[in-house]
Amino acid sequence: MKIASIGSGNMGGTLGKRWAALGHRVMFGTRNPHSEKIKLLLQDAGANAQAGTIKEAAAFGEVILLAVLPDAVEQVLTEAGDLDGKILINCTNRYDAKSADAEVRRLAQHARVVRAFHTLPWEVLANSQYEAGVATVFLSGDDPEAVEAVAALTTQLGLDPVAVGGPDDMAKVETAIGTMWRILAPKFGREFSLSVLRR
Ligand SMILES: NC(=O)c1ccc[n+]([C@@H]2O[C@H](COP(=O)([O-])OP(=O)(O)OC[C@H]3O[C@@H](n4cnc5c(N)ncnc54)[C@H](OP(=O)(O)O)[C@@H]3O)[C@@H](O)[C@H]2O)c1
Repeated sequence: MKIASIGSGNMGGTLGKRWAALGHRVMFGTRNPHSEKIKLLLQDAGANAQAGTIKEAAAFGEVILLAVLPDAVEQVLTEAGDLDGKILINCTNRYDAKSADAEVRRLAQHARVVRAFHTLPWEVLANSQYEAGVATVFLSGDDPEAVEAVAALTTQLGLDPVAVGGPDDMAKVETAIGTMWRILAPKFGREFSLSVLRR
């Protein structure tokens, strides 16, 4: 699959490298495709990865991961142009009163937006193996096929996708996870995970 990562930092760099290692073709969309930082990232990511401008990456990807800081979201989605029918994975978080989910769905109206990966720290996405089980990735979105496609990309990373419904359901999940984080992170650091066991 052709995957674009707009954002080449902790989240975009980590997920892009892992998908490239699995055989997907990955393009990092960045403000400076020729920077030292991007050269090092491409060396690490191997032959399946390349870099381009944000617009080039948006045109390249069948699936586009949006992994920039909240303040840059509006600017990069404007620069990306029309994402007509493409799957846009929104892993961005905001730490103010606004909803990162609502903002992206408003700005990327023609994309098939799936909210995913935002409830896990990048360290867990880089190394998803635990002795006791598999970390859960909560997903939401209005387009079942798009959610299914992102769930498949999640499974390939060795993570467990659990679709929770629409934006309102996800907002409740985010609140619950935020509360758990505030309580558990001081005790266990950034690499603990939540897993939904089921039978
Ligand atoms: N870190 C985590 O564990 C974690 C977990 C869950 C969710 N998130 C969310 O994921 C998003 C990315 O976090 P991160 O930790 O990956 O951040 P990061 O390491 O700081 O990377 C952010 C990326 O955004 C791009 N960027 C920054 N300012 C930009 C601008 N004005 N215009 C265009 N691109 C810009 C940069 O790309 P270039 O410099 O290459 O252009 C950079 O690679 C955030 O919304 C964060 O809340 C992070």
